[in-house]
Amino acid sequence: MTDSQRKILVTSALPYANGSIHLGHMVEHVQTDIWVRFQRMRGHQCHFVCADDAHGTPIMLKADAEGISPQQLIDQVSEEHQRDFSSFLISFDHYHSTHSPENRHYSELVYNRLNEKGHISRRSIQQFYDPEKGMFLPDRFVKGTCPKCKSENQYGDNCEVCGSTYSPTDLIDPVSVVSGAKPVERESEQLFFKLGNFREFLKNWLDQGHTQSEIANKQKELFEEELFEWDISRNAPYWGFEIPGEKDKYFYVWMDAPIGYLASFKHLCDRDGLDFNEYFKPNSECELYHFIGKDIARFHTLFWPAQLHGADFRTPTAVWVHGFLTVNGQKMSKSRGTFIMGSTYINHLDPEYLRYYFAAKLDNSIDDLDLSLSDFQSRVNSDLVGKLVNIASRCAGFITKTFEGKLSEQLPNPEMFEEFVQMGDSIAKDYEERRYSKAIRDIMGLADKANQYIDAAKPWVLIKQPDSMKDVQGICTQGLNLFRLLVIYLKPVLPITAEKAEAFLNVQAQCWSDIANPLLGHSINKFKPLLTRVEDKQIEAMIEETKVEQQPVVSGHLAEDPISPEVSYDDFAKLDFRVAKIVQASHVDGADKLLQLTLDLGGETRNVFAGIKSAYKPELLEGRHTVMIANLAPRKMRFGVSEGMVLAAGLGEKDVFLLNPDEGAEPGMRVK
Ligand code: MSP
Ligand code: ZN
Repeated sequence: MTDSQRKILVTSALPYANGSIHLGHMVEHVQTDIWVRFQRMRGHQCHFVCADDAHGTPIMLKADAEGISPQQLIDQVSEEHQRDFSSFLISFDHYHSTHSPENRHYSELVYNRLNEKGHISRRSIQQFYDPEKGMFLPDRFVKGTCPKCKSENQYGDNCEVCGSTYSPTDLIDPVSVVSGAKPVERESEQLFFKLGNFREFLKNWLDQGHTQSEIANKQKELFEEELFEWDISRNAPYWGFEIPGEKDKYFYVWMDAPIGYLASFKHLCDRDGLDFNEYFKPNSECELYHFIGKDIARFHTLFWPAQLHGADFRTPTAVWVHGFLTVNGQKMSKSRGTFIMGSTYINHLDPEYLRYYFAAKLDNSIDDLDLSLSDFQSRVNSDLVGKLVNIASRCAGFITKTFEGKLSEQLPNPEMFEEFVQMGDSIAKDYEERRYSKAIRDIMGLADKANQYIDAAKPWVLIKQPDSMKDVQGICTQGLNLFRLLVIYLKPVLPITAEKAEAFLNVQAQCWSDIANPLLGHSINKFKPLLTRVEDKQIEAMIEETKVEQQPVVSGHLAEDPISPEVSYDDFAKLDFRVAKIVQASHVDGADKLLQLTLDLGGETRNVFAGIKSAYKPELLEGRHTVMIANLAPRKMRFGVSEGMVLAAGLGEKDVFLLNPDEGAEPGMRVK
């Protein structure tokens, strides 16, 4: 290619570390990965980094509920996320965490620079506080009755019934989602990023095509607001980085999350000897692209460029925004079995099918895209198996069997080959500009032509006629050369199929500039099927597994908290229930829900941590009987090892019921 080597850094948004990767996430990572692989094939230096977004209240509370530390939670999730992404062939150079030394460094640096330049202000605000849990409540952790339409059970920021937005203190009868307590208003001082100082800068930035125009226009609406400040602090307890020079104040998760892009790249620079400053100094000639979903555009196209600019870093070359994934025309739904996790998909289907289908649907707009499962199946089967792989499988056998695996010295139809090569420029332009669906359409148009060529030439007829037999070698050589071009064009989307095709064609890893030269007089290897058809039963099994994972929504509690997957009687029978006497019960320092129990099993004592603090005073438990599972494997928790589990029932907050067996129960007795 003629354009000189570019230096490019690309990111996908950092997934939250409190949930699993689902197919919605995969839209973004596949979109990004195709672009990255394309740039690398063009010979550019293209680095691709991501990380888990590991801070914030939801992560803190989730860890708490699971009885593990936030660090343990984010470590587990990071491993799971990286496994899921690699199973979809996402080619990160590095996957980091926002809870990392590099991120602490850059978060403090950005904040200190903004502060020194007078871009940080402070004032007191009123917020809801949970007196029981002892924490300030984010909007989403307060529920109550909508002040407008009076619908019950609405979140603190907006009403899902009438769509109105309000502040949590406007709710009627508010309750804390965390403890069920009635929240109280409390005043505290918070730190604000004075976005208003960047008004002119942002207006220009938004007018310069650094993001799609719909997104830019949407952000500009906010410029009308007089108060243009962004609260970047949160009160303790919070899981994140403490703000330098403040007491009990933490950076709001969205303050340090995008800085995670810098942190992840810095880690890569240190590992691979790259020059971080070359990429992030103001006016750097290196390119920086963020791929994100439309729900987080404001953070990336207002706050983030201002944060960077204010802290003397370069701003993004572009923030490319995509729409949301729907499945079968509707929002992904747990009850319909369409809220599909990445790992569930992978249990049943090939990652390249989905990469191909998304590519065939993605363009550079912010429109939502639909995964219609029947369309997915027919598209993959007809395009990839029926058209692409078919070209190779129709030609390969003749070359192997009749011509000792050797291609002819010349192409019978060099004009046609040239026409395929010529299409390379427009296909490349489509990849570059994220019009993948157009690229795929054109590539499949070429696949049709290649198949028509073979249909018309009929090598299977010629091979039986002694005087035209020799033409078969040329026809198949032509077919396989066209196939090779299509494989190169699809390589950003189908890296594994491309690799298999390279092995079959007996060529090195192909890059874009390899298209020009046909393979002639060259030996190929025996053909092995590259991709198989998508079968109905695979899709059905995936939906089934999704439904089991997320049990049908009935109503009431089951809707919020579905019944777990069935266990067999044999599994149940393995549990050994014993009467235990609570000989000692005490509070656990630093644990909000747990009590420590010493249990007498009649011959042996056990140390057990039970999440029943909100229901029982420890002194009232001592001397009582309960039932425990005595053969549960010991579990390491933040506060120590728990050696079993006591039986309790209830909602896990106020009304937890310990079973209290009848008089006459003896410690160690088997419960039948
Ligand atoms: N942690 C933030 C991002 C911080 S970036 C500095 C976050 N995490 S997320 O896990 O909720 O979402 C990660 C990305 O996945 C976002 O770009 C989001 O738009 C995208 N998607 C999440 N669900 C999606 C669909 N259903 N469809 C398409 N993309 C979706 O936001
Ligand atoms: Zn309402």
